[in-house]
Amino acid sequence: MAKAKTTAFFCKECGNEYSKWFGQCPSCKSWNTLVEQPAQTKKSTSTRGIVSAINTDAKIVPLKSIDLEEKDRISTDMKELDRVLGGGIVQGSLCLLGGDPGIGKSTLLLQMCYNLANKNIKVLYISGEESLKQIKLRADRIGECKGELNVLCETNLNNIENVLTEHKPELVIIDSIQTMFKEEVNAAPGSISQVRESTQTLLQLAKGLNISIFIVGHVTKEGVVAGPRMLEHMVDTVLYFEGDRYASYRLLRGVKNRFGSTNEIGVFEMQEKGLVEVPNPSEYMLNGRPEDSSGSVVVCLMEGTRPLMVEIQALVCDSNFGMARRTAAGMDYNRVNLLMAVLEKRAGIHLSGSDAYVNIAGGIKVNEPALDLGVVLALVSSFKNKAIDSKTVIFGEVGLSGEVRAVSQVQQRINEAIKLGFENVILPMVCLKNIKNSDRINLIAVGNVNDAIKLL
Ligand code: TYD
Ligand code: MG
Repeated sequence: MAKAKTTAFFCKECGNEYSKWFGQCPSCKSWNTLVEQPAQTKKSTSTRGIVSAINTDAKIVPLKSIDLEEKDRISTDMKELDRVLGGGIVQGSLCLLGGDPGIGKSTLLLQMCYNLANKNIKVLYISGEESLKQIKLRADRIGECKGELNVLCETNLNNIENVLTEHKPELVIIDSIQTMFKEEVNAAPGSISQVRESTQTLLQLAKGLNISIFIVGHVTKEGVVAGPRMLEHMVDTVLYFEGDRYASYRLLRGVKNRFGSTNEIGVFEMQEKGLVEVPNPSEYMLNGRPEDSSGSVVVCLMEGTRPLMVEIQALVCDSNFGMARRTAAGMDYNRVNLLMAVLEKRAGIHLSGSDAYVNIAGGIKVNEPALDLGVVLALVSSFKNKAIDSKTVIFGEVGLSGEVRAVSQVQQRINEAIKLGFENVILPMVCLKNIKNSDRINLIAVGNVNDAIKLL
C-alpha cells in the first residue's frame, strides 16, 4: 500500500495546494512562492458560506412568517451615504469600501463613526495602518466627537475576535483588510489567502454577533479591490469611493448591495474639516462654465435615480501632421471615435484632417449613452466655431445610422433642467410623448444628427 502523503506544497501568494513543487505557481503565476508544509487536515474555513456563519439548524420556515423591522437599519445621518447604502446600515451586515489611497476612505468612515457615536451606538474603529496618535490627529481635523468612540490599533484577527466577543460593539470599522492577518494562515498580510481567511472570520463575526462591519480595501492599479475576487462575493455590500485626486469632489458608488439598489451615488467634497455632503451636484459640476463659448455644451446624465448635469468641452482644430490626434478625458475614447465616424459619414462633416479633444469638465468619469448627442454637438460647435446657447441642455443616444435614440427617465432630466433655470432642451424625437411641464421649458426634438446640427 502506498504511504499516505503528509506534506504538500502551498503557494505563499494565493494559498493553493499542490502535490509537487513548481517553480512558478500554476494558478497565480508568481515565481518561487511554493513552500513545503504539512498537508492541511482541517478543511479551510473559506468554503463555508454565510449560512454556516449564522449557524442555523436545518429548519424550514415559510417566507411569509419572517418579519422585518425597520429599526434594523441605522441611519448614518449622512444623507449621501445612507442613500448609497439603501437607507442606512443594516445590522449584522458586512460592507466593503474600496478606493484609491488618499481618497478619503478613513475620513468618511471616521465621520460616520462620529455620527453614530453621537447617537449612543457602540462603535469601535480598528486601524491596522495608523497609530492611535495619527487617528487622533485626523479626528481633531474633523472636529470634536461628543459620543463615546473607541479605537484600537491591532492587526491580529484572533485578538480582534476576542475583543469583539467581549465588548460586543454594534459597529466595527476594519481599516484595512490588507493589514489584517490570521496566525494559522502561513502567508503575508495582504496576500490572497490572508485576505480571504480574514474576511471569512469577519463575516462569521458579523453574522454570529450581529455586528455591522465596514472593511476598507485597497485597490489595485486596475481599480478593483486588491485580493481575491471572491472578496466581493463574500460581503453584503461593496462600495467604491472615487474621484480625481486633484478635484475636491468625491463620488461614493455602490457596485453590489444585497439590501438596496446599486445605481445610487453619493457626492461629497473634501474640505479643510473633512468631507461635506453635496446635495445638489449639478450646480457644483457646472460651476465656472464659460458662457457662449464654442465647443461647450451641458448634458444631463442619470446617476441612479438622480439627474446630474455636466459640461462637455470639445476642441477641434486642424491637424499639422498626417495623422489626426484624438483624446477623450472622462469618457470612452472609442466612443468619441465612433461618434466622429458617424458625423463624417452621416452628416458629411469632414473631421478626418482635424485633431479633436473631448473633455468632461470637473474630472468626472461617465459612460452613459445619453452623452452621445452632447458630444456630437460639442464637436460640431467647435468645428464650426459656433456657440450653443448656454441655457440649453442636451441628451440623447446616437446610433450608427446617425439616428438619435431614446434614453430613459426623460421626465427627471427635464425637471432638473427646469429646476436649474435652463431654457431649452434638445432631446430625441421619440422621447417627446408623455412629458409633463412641457410649457415651462422649450423642448427641441431631433430625429437624427443632421436635425441637431441644423440647430447650430
Ligand atoms: P484618508 O481618509 O486618510 O484617505 P484613505 O484612507 O482613503 O487613504 O484621507 C486622506 C486625504 O484627505 C489627505 O490627503 C488629506 C485629505 N483631508 C482633507 O483634505 N481634509 C480633512 O479634514 C482630512 C481628515 C483629510
Ligand atoms: Mg486610510
